[in-house]
Amino acid sequence: MKKINIKNLIVACLLFSIPVSTIISGCAASAKVAAKTGSQLWSENCRRCHNTPPATAFSADQWETIGLHMQSRALLTETEKNKIVQFLKGE
Ligand code: HEC
Repeated sequence: MKKINIKNLIVACLLFSIPVSTIISGCAASAKVAAKTGSQLWSENCRRCHNTPPATAFSADQWETIGLHMQSRALLTETEKNKIVQFLKGE
């Protein structure tokens, strides 16, 4: 069996423009989720139950609180919640 060479993997990633984090984490599926931006996570998770209010509808502090509240409703991880809240706070 041919040994997998990390350098070749990185070259392959560059060729196919796969984020190098994909191979470092070793799990393509979770790396894909981890690579999602706050706006992607927001649009995928926050309109399942209601229309999403625009980022301007609440202050930064209010988004922190709403984030905590909706994290449990939307079953988000801490990282996902933080990305969404950052996005809504315009950071
Ligand atoms: C499982 C269903 C569900 C999901 C998914 C969900 N919400 Fe909600 N959301 C609710 C319900 C129910 C309420 C109204 C009651 C409450 O505040 O808990 C609400 C209320 C809100 C409010 C109004 C709060 C207020 O004080 O007026 C905002 C803003 C909000 N959600 C944002 C979000 C965001 C951002 C996400 C994505 C992270 C999200 N929601 C995902 C169910 C959901």
